[in-house]
Amino acid sequence: MEKREELYAGKAKSVYRTDDPDRFVMVFRDDTSAFDGEKKEQLNRKGMVNNKFNAFIMNKLEQAGVPTHFEGLLSDTDSLVKKLDMIPVECVVRNVSAGSLCRRLGVEEGQDLNPPTYELFLKNDALHDPMVNESLAVTFGWAKEDELARMKELTYKVNSVLKTLFEEAGMLLVDYKLEFGRSNDTIVLGDEFSPDGCRIWDMETRKKMDKDRFRQGLGEVIETYEEVGRRLGINFD
Ligand code: TMP
Ligand code: ASP
Repeated sequence: MEKREELYAGKAKSVYRTDDPDRFVMVFRDDTSAFDGEKKEQLNRKGMVNNKFNAFIMNKLEQAGVPTHFEGLLSDTDSLVKKLDMIPVECVVRNVSAGSLCRRLGVEEGQDLNPPTYELFLKNDALHDPMVNESLAVTFGWAKEDELARMKELTYKVNSVLKTLFEEAGMLLVDYKLEFGRSNDTIVLGDEFSPDGCRIWDMETRKKMDKDRFRQGLGEVIETYEEVGRRLGINFD
């Protein structure tokens, strides 16, 4: 499928139109950003690593019955996806305390969260992705009640699939963010799943293996993403 004009460029990915009005090309760039775009860098190989990582995870989720927009790899950095009408609400599940949860609630990092927590954030960099809830989402028309219920159900289903997948490879899925959209009135998982949008720790050493390496200046960002992928059986060559 040929790429036509660029429709949208986000902080790390771009979306292109194709000749098929229902399919887009998603391009994973080497650009890396954190803190709502305040910290930015180009990391060599990141586009390729995240594209292949995402393809692997989306395939696993599809096999487990989670509908996703992913249709297939087109090249090292490009994937074909279904066009979705995106919902501007980010769904976050946490299995272990970290990040904004610790800052907001004064909770210590690294506590097991049982049952796992579920939070919604408005996708809006200018407002620093404020935390929202179902009531606000319905009132402001971001999503309908039944859509929000389905997003929650699918976000937890993703947890049951991926928590086990990472555990079997010696890693903890600490938390992650998902974005959904509509395709013919069905809720479908969109965006990406890569170490940019989740936290992954080594189970034994608790070494950080995700974008916190970039946020916190820990170094070896992409080398560590590749190690996560290799442990899951992904081939980056
Ligand atoms: P947080 O601790 O900053 O709230 O983030 C929780 C998880 O969700 C973490 O893995 C990062 C991810 N996330 C994003 O990737 N982008 C976002 O805009 C938000 C709010 C969270
Ligand atoms: N939404 C945030 C950002 O893109 C997530 C992060 O800090 O990585 O800046």
